[in-house]
Amino acid sequence: MCGIVGYIGQNDTKEILLNGLEKLEYRGYDSAGIATLNNYGLHLFKAKGRIATLREKVDTTVASSIGIGHTRWATHGEPSEENAHPHQSSSGRFTLVHNGVIENYYELRDDYLSDVNLISETDTEVIIQLMEVLYNQYQDVAEAFRQTVALLKGSYAIALIDAEDQDTIYVAKNKSPLLIGLGEGFNVIASDAMATLKETNRYLEIHDKEVVLVNRNYVEIQKLDGIAVEREPYIAEIDAADIEKGTYAHFMLKEIDEQPFVMRKIIKAYQNQQGNIKLDASVEKAMLEADRIYIVAAGTSYHAGLIGKQMIERLANIPVEVHIASEFSYNMPLLSAKPLFIFISQSGETADSRAVLVRIKELGHSALTITNVPGSTLSREADYTLHLYAGPEIAVASTKAYTAQIAVLTILAVGTAKAKGMTLDFDPLQELAIVSSVMESLTDQKDTFQQIAIDLFTETRNAFFIGRGVDYFVAQEASLKLKEISYIQAEGFAGGELKHGTIALIEEGTPVIAIATQENVNYSIRGNVQEVAARGAKTCIFSMEGLHQDNDAFVLPQVHELLTPLVSVIPMQLLAYYAALHRDCDVDKPRNLAKSVTVE
Ligand code: AGP
Repeated sequence: MCGIVGYIGQNDTKEILLNGLEKLEYRGYDSAGIATLNNYGLHLFKAKGRIATLREKVDTTVASSIGIGHTRWATHGEPSEENAHPHQSSSGRFTLVHNGVIENYYELRDDYLSDVNLISETDTEVIIQLMEVLYNQYQDVAEAFRQTVALLKGSYAIALIDAEDQDTIYVAKNKSPLLIGLGEGFNVIASDAMATLKETNRYLEIHDKEVVLVNRNYVEIQKLDGIAVEREPYIAEIDAADIEKGTYAHFMLKEIDEQPFVMRKIIKAYQNQQGNIKLDASVEKAMLEADRIYIVAAGTSYHAGLIGKQMIERLANIPVEVHIASEFSYNMPLLSAKPLFIFISQSGETADSRAVLVRIKELGHSALTITNVPGSTLSREADYTLHLYAGPEIAVASTKAYTAQIAVLTILAVGTAKAKGMTLDFDPLQELAIVSSVMESLTDQKDTFQQIAIDLFTETRNAFFIGRGVDYFVAQEASLKLKEISYIQAEGFAGGELKHGTIALIEEGTPVIAIATQENVNYSIRGNVQEVAARGAKTCIFSMEGLHQDNDAFVLPQVHELLTPLVSVIPMQLLAYYAALHRDCDVDKPRNLAKSVTVE
């Protein structure tokens, strides 16, 4: 999952490309490059590492009004200058950037490129060399491009320029996200609207297996057979300020602090004039018709799904299964007669989840996507969408999207219960208002959590988060946060399961953080803490008011027992943040990761 940007217009393209790549760096940041074209030819600049390193290499004297750029998350070939994009054809005439994975690149290489010397280890270079071979055959760039794209299998978002034509950027897409931004006398190409928001907020969606000819004054979408396609642009509702760090050192800390306001936005968005829950009638109908719900997601979104299951089963009395998307694709369980699939995805672009969506749509089943990016692939291709209203989430480690997902799943469960005529003693909009002020009081106590993080994590190589019931689900999210940004090996574990083996890993000083917010398991989780403490663990209990005991490390203000994950996770997010900070890790762009995983 890389980031692609392109510009063709009147202005100097360098700055537009480099700024765009900086906005896309959350998608991959192990190497980068740009290519620009002017009367003196094609200018290629590539670098291993961040956009900042690339900036130092770009010759600022080179001016041009057409160019393409790329920031990489390596799939084929290690991060290096040679494997960085853009890649060029042997003659240097054609230059290309690509996001995705070409599954048949071996076959294409063997069938068409046996006498072509490939200089990189990437699947991408096969595309551009194939383009040159087919151009030599067809002597028509647009035709050769369509023929090249028609031979590709897998996921791709491609932008290509021809050294002999300063008026066209050739674009194609399949599975990987790609948008065309429209302007007066210029047009842009971007993996994500955030990259070129400074230039325009009018965007054209490109659908799978389409190619696009992008000129300064027009954009022509075509099917692979060359037939033109008409499409209306849409306005990207993103506030440019939302994608700036402001005074924060890191996007992650900014996004943690935004959670109380996100709760208030969600309360407002899902409330009608009478102050009751407002749920789209078609979503309600889909929930009522389902005999079983299948939640499909990855990573943090999967963790939110675990809590969503509890909400829907407890409040709306509909059986729910939660599945890891990458497993579900290749190991589909027996489905019920009238299943409803719920896809949870911050980005709306996660390839593992999309693969399941394509599959269940082929089987004729209905799908609801809960996402932070309306207009994303998983939203467009589902039957229904519920928006998270969390605002752009830039930090790779997801925080505000997780709590927003839980809040929206709660509202979905209560809305469905009410539609079923069930009476509930639980008003989520009121309870979420309480949650938002408790969140605010927690984010005001950063020093406390910083100190706990320093005590627990400065030296350690591993750590455990334990909980029971819904706290176990939060423990899994807490361990993921710590792992992905501080690189400490951590596990989220069911408190009662430890003694069946994993407790063998506990030794003197092993940090064990327990989350204890549920009355029915309060004593048993505290028993589990005693078990590990007896073996030398450095234990730390985060409890809830009313269930707390003197030696607890931190007592969370009380909220409704169903909503405790929304507050217990805040200290967990901050523990991870400060652990990473004090280990000098790159909090917003952890190694080996990317924000939106658009390859399977
Ligand atoms: C979470 O911090 C990670 N960035 C990752 O696990 C993420 O949750 C996962 O890739 C799913 O992403 P999505 O919500 O955009 O589908």
